[in-house]
Amino acid sequence: MKIYNILTIFPKMFESALSFGVVSKAADKGILEINPVDIRECAYDRHRSTDDCQYGGGHGLVMKAEPVVESVRAVKANDPSTRVIMLDPRGKTFSQKDAERLLEYESLTFICGRYEGVDERIYDLVVDESISLGDFILTGGELAAITIIDAVARLIPGVLGDENSPVEDSYSTGLLEYPHYTRPAEYEGLSVPEVLTNGHHAEIDRWRREQSLRLTFERRPDLLREAPLNDHDRAFLRKLTLDKIKSRRLYVALLHYPMKDKEKDVVATSITNMDLHDISRSCTTYGVRKYFVVTPLSAQREIAGRVIDHWLEGYGATYNANRKQAFMGTALKESLMEVLEEIERVEGQRPRIVATTARTDRANISYPQLAEATLNQPCLLMFGTGWGFTEDIFRMADNILQPIDGTGEFNHLSVRSAVAIILDRLNRNSGGLL
Ligand SMILES: C[S@@+](CC[C@H](N)C(=O)[O-])C[C@H]1O[C@@H](n2cnc3c(N)ncnc32)[C@H](O)[C@@H]1O
Repeated sequence: MKIYNILTIFPKMFESALSFGVVSKAADKGILEINPVDIRECAYDRHRSTDDCQYGGGHGLVMKAEPVVESVRAVKANDPSTRVIMLDPRGKTFSQKDAERLLEYESLTFICGRYEGVDERIYDLVVDESISLGDFILTGGELAAITIIDAVARLIPGVLGDENSPVEDSYSTGLLEYPHYTRPAEYEGLSVPEVLTNGHHAEIDRWRREQSLRLTFERRPDLLREAPLNDHDRAFLRKLTLDKIKSRRLYVALLHYPMKDKEKDVVATSITNMDLHDISRSCTTYGVRKYFVVTPLSAQREIAGRVIDHWLEGYGATYNANRKQAFMGTALKESLMEVLEEIERVEGQRPRIVATTARTDRANISYPQLAEATLNQPCLLMFGTGWGFTEDIFRMADNILQPIDGTGEFNHLSVRSAVAIILDRLNRNSGGLL
């Protein structure tokens, strides 16, 4: 029999909470025992107080060490191997894996904090681990204890009937569970998916698996990193990812004017052959809709135009078809205004302008935020040359992207490296497995 002790100043809270449903039936069958313990029983002062003001000042009361420690020791006198768990928002966040791990213990003892929390010495003296229910604050640990006991108890063999098998639950498979339907087949104009009504079990299994993968991809892509997946799952997720990336409206511009030089003067920098080639290749690889190379100098545009034409139409086009493909999305522009006009013409709306910089103090958009934004509106990601953008450019940008951090003082990436790294980060933040 599993024993769940709960140390609390409100033992009556447990009388009804755990007296319904399968957990209460399991208690009736003698599979488990729930044992609320009143911490006040071990408060020995005149008022049986379990809390006091905190050292150092500040609002709120703190639960005293003595009544809690003595309560744990009283439980341990009969049940020495019980595992002592503090419910604590600073603890490790509870998950299905923890429920499976805690199932291995014959006895668990939960300490329910109240007020501002408990005297820190309780942790040193009697606590084995701290568990949080999530990133929010409850008024006390009681509801957290009930939740954890419910999640663990339903895994004890014999607690759930076969009709409620926990094997396919969300998280047990590493994925979120597929949608369920019951009678009637049509309700308020909404029908049950046809595949579930045709009795073809292989097709039903396949539909359910794909729904699980789709829901997990959309809502909890973080779970996909550890979920056990087969080749079909991977192919399906790859398709979901590619569809999502195709709907992304991301543009890249490399500006050669107005840029700062070493003396902070405003200059036009030169186009380099490597930036033309490498950024075109990165942008095509990562599904950027267009890569604009911007310079007001006509001689520079003419040289760059010749390079691009060589690969699009000249000898280069037959020599290396891949390079032709890379340059198909590259365009030369005289000014940033021209770039914005072209995007607005194609997309029917002005793009969100996002500038990049190596400086850490001015960023106001993260990679996940930008990845999300590209799904909702066209975004122009601007990269600079020389010694970076002038203040005018930063002022006209809607956002400044979080910089790429190096590992030390030195942080001077080439612009082509920065483009590749940032595009890859945006890709990773699009979810899925790419
Ligand atoms: C009001 S809370 C104290 C919060 C504490 N001052 C803090 O900021 O970390 C009182 C008690 O509720 C319980 N509690 C609150 N939020 C919780 C959570 N997310 N998970 C587990 N227990 C929680 C803990 O036992 C905690 O000691």
